[in-house]
Amino acid sequence: MRITVVGTGYVGLVSGVCFAEFGFNVTCVDKNKSKIEELNRGGVPIYEPGLDKLISKNFAAGRLRFVSEIEEGVRNADIIFIAVGTPSRSDGSADLSYVYQAAEEIARSANNGALIVIKSTVPVGTSGAVKKFLLDKGIDADVAFNPEFLKEGAAVEDFMHPDRVILGVESKNAKRILSQVYRPLYVFNTPLVFTDLETAELSKYASNAFLAMKVAFINEIADLCESCGADVNEVAIAMGLDKRIGDKFLQAGPGYGGSCFPKDTSALNHFAAERGVNLSLVKETIRSNGDRRKRMAEKILSACGNNVRGKNIAVLGVTFKANTDDMRDSPSIDIIKALAEHGAHIKIYDPSFSGQAAEIFRGIPFGDNAYDVCNGADAVIILTDWSEFRALNLKELNGRVKNPLLIDLRNIYTLSEVNSSGFNYCSVGRVFKKLGAAKETE
Ligand code: UDX
Ligand code: UDX
Repeated sequence: MRITVVGTGYVGLVSGVCFAEFGFNVTCVDKNKSKIEELNRGGVPIYEPGLDKLISKNFAAGRLRFVSEIEEGVRNADIIFIAVGTPSRSDGSADLSYVYQAAEEIARSANNGALIVIKSTVPVGTSGAVKKFLLDKGIDADVAFNPEFLKEGAAVEDFMHPDRVILGVESKNAKRILSQVYRPLYVFNTPLVFTDLETAELSKYASNAFLAMKVAFINEIADLCESCGADVNEVAIAMGLDKRIGDKFLQAGPGYGGSCFPKDTSALNHFAAERGVNLSLVKETIRSNGDRRKRMAEKILSACGNNVRGKNIAVLGVTFKANTDDMRDSPSIDIIKALAEHGAHIKIYDPSFSGQAAEIFRGIPFGDNAYDVCNGADAVIILTDWSEFRALNLKELNGRVKNPLLIDLRNIYTLSEVNSSGFNYCSVGRVFKKLGAAKETE
């Protein structure tokens, strides 16, 4: 089985490399020549834990190659995955031009009988429309849809041990080829859910919209906790123990970001509106998450006495979540912008040393470690839940700051830990009690 993946972004690269790890011969194609050159030199253009080792292992074994010419990449392939980006347009709809362009280029060069599988997230009906688009150009290609459920930062693990694999197919041939491709997962009894193209496409949007709604829900419950003295972490644990609810995606924070939830909720909403269907919960989720960022900036301002002008603010973590260098739609962008507009002097430390972040926050200094950026700080703000922030020596940190104020928008500290460090603490959905009176019972 010869597999080609077109697009070596966060999804395409992980998918291609993991297919090679399954034992298949894989060609990864990207029109961005400098990315391909970097990969061929042994570099990895994205930060994704575990990916570098799998790339070097499978590259050395001759199962993985990287090319920039689509024609060369798809020649002789039995199955070709499309994993190019589907960014949001200004009206919220998904921009599918890269998908159509890739499909046409692939179909022109691929072998007869090669299966084209769309992995990019696309509105319902797109896979069928791509097939028709190709037919209109005289190319009779078999098109399938196989959504990705890869969380950045845990994408390799998610690929190798998925909860399920959704496969939208229209032919026995597609079902046969895709069964072979995902056969290595049988060892974990992973359900392969074969369905039609439209159901597979909608399953992806519905899954991400539901998870986004769960996050927005717990964030609103966090607000309520702050107003009545309850602890949102404990509420989430109590809720999550009910198997009907589940314990995942109930971590309160500064709001969801990333390349998927914001884009997918808005594309789903746009798609439904076009059909006259009112997805009121999805709409409200989008609105609630947008408001959350503004409220988080206000929360920081309020914790700083409603005046940050000239104050030194140390920001720990700016990527949209931990274990990635991805800055797409990160809540930190809006929050830091608001603080800068209020005259704060900001310093940033992010463990990914993200090039995207340096570009976005041009003019704002970055430090080499968490402690240095806190020297002389009037407030320390945790925006991303990187593991290394969980074990900061708060007493040492307290010795470095000007004013011991820790604003933790990811709730990574327990109230008692902070109590003993001498910091004043502000988190989400939990009320900080005076020293010696932490609410926790541990
Ligand atoms: C993916 C999916 O494709 C998107 O639909 C999903 O919802 C999220 O994940 P991602 O991997 O994050 O996107 O995209 P990105 O990091 O932008 O990578 C896309 C890659 O495709 C880039 O490297 C780009 O150079 C490449 N590309 C794009 C091509 O090779 N050919 C094209 O025509 C367009
Ligand atoms: C998401 C999907 O989960 C994944 O299946 C795939 O479709 C790609 O999109 P990703 O965006 O990489 O993955 O990360 P995810 O872990 O889903 O987090 C999304 C956002 O929600 C992040 O900003 C994260 O910080 C936030 N989040 C997540 C919370 O605030 N609380 C939670 O409990 C979980």
